[in-house]
Amino acid sequence: MVRIHPSILSADFVNLERDLEKIASADGVHVDVMDAHFVPNLTFGLPMVQRIAEVTSLPIDVHLMIDDPDTWAPQYAIDRVDSVTFHAEATRDAVSLARELRARGTRASIAVKPGTLVDDVLEHLAEFDMVLVMTVEPGFGGQSFMGEMMPKVEALRGRAEELGIELALQVDGGITADTLPIAAASGADVFVAGSAVYGHSSPAERITALRDAGKG
Ligand code: DX5
Ligand code: ZN
Repeated sequence: MVRIHPSILSADFVNLERDLEKIASADGVHVDVMDAHFVPNLTFGLPMVQRIAEVTSLPIDVHLMIDDPDTWAPQYAIDRVDSVTFHAEATRDAVSLARELRARGTRASIAVKPGTLVDDVLEHLAEFDMVLVMTVEPGFGGQSFMGEMMPKVEALRGRAEELGIELALQVDGGITADTLPIAAASGADVFVAGSAVYGHSSPAERITALRDAGKG
């Protein structure tokens, strides 16, 4: 199953409600929170996510690119937020944070930057509902897909199958109709796409095209 989560990082922040309507056919909306510390870019925080939750009926997939998620991430477990993703490089205690997110009724997800190995995540895989393998350096949209991240996706999918657990595997960065099938073949099933969706006059058509690409 292929799930398409457009990233509003490539949307028009001043016309966000309009741009959210354009992706109504998606499976979820990916919301990038950046703090200008963990990544060299700044977007918005909880008030914006709360407002998005009021105007969209899509499941919200929050991607926190922030320092100290142990303190901040639980606040994002609000109604309509389906998953909260924090970074492995930023957390002090991934397992405790994941447990807290689950206890607050949202799905717990851990992200790894391109330079981060997945060994620690593999060791505690059952603690997470989703793993996000970054296929670009986090911070900006419009970068090129790093195919060399696929062994991580394969290792995670293989381990999830061994354990018999349901694990969503998300890829984020450089996803297009050309790169999506590569990630899908490696075991990814949730695809974030910013520029590939919003960089076109018809985001709805792009969502369909990405889904079709995943059917291979
Ligand atoms: C980058 C963000 C992505 C970004 C992807 O740090 O996490 O979600 O929007 O943009 P594209 O799809 O354009 O690579
Ligand atoms: Zn993201």
